[in-house]
Amino acid sequence: MLIKNIKDEVLDLNEKYKKSAEDGYDFWENHVKHVVKESLLLAEKYGADKEIVEIAAMLHDIALMSNVGTKADHNVNGAKIAEEILSKYNVEKSKKERIVGCVLHHRASKYAENIEELCVADADIIAHFDNIPMIFFKSFTWGKMTLNDKDKLIQGFQNDYEDLSERSKKEFKPRYENIMQVLFK
Ligand SMILES: [Fe+2]
Ligand SMILES: [Fe+2]
Repeated sequence: MLIKNIKDEVLDLNEKYKKSAEDGYDFWENHVKHVVKESLLLAEKYGADKEIVEIAAMLHDIALMSNVGTKADHNVNGAKIAEEILSKYNVEKSKKERIVGCVLHHRASKYAENIEELCVADADIIAHFDNIPMIFFKSFTWGKMTLNDKDKLIQGFQNDYEDLSERSKKEFKPRYENIMQVLFK
């Protein structure tokens, strides 16, 4: 029930974001749903708490979806918003803290303090591999890149891969190398 309630809250914010965005960007369809899927696969593989991981994945970019603050501090603002949303429901304190921790530390696996935080941080990156057209869309529109910026695009994919945990790097190396081969070789 909690998962359904949080999903409804996030989808509601997503609709508002979509309507307010000039380009009608659909955060859920293009990013968040992929993070949810990948974080659950990692939770299964790495033995993490699936409920915490799923809820945290839904909430991880909530500050961006709510147009609060900037990209640079979206994890900090997101943790506050996640805390507020979770406080509306009867979530036990320790569970709430662990979900909020995943939102706060999702920027890269090096910030993860437990296995749930690692699953969300790594899934955030693997979700990019699931929707490569979105990477190009964002680079060429929001990032104002041109076709001359191939090196920057390559760097972006490399930085993503470097931010993965050592375990996920091993796990996703063949897929990452395939992607780089197809896109840039
Ligand atoms: Fe994020
Ligand atoms: Fe994200």
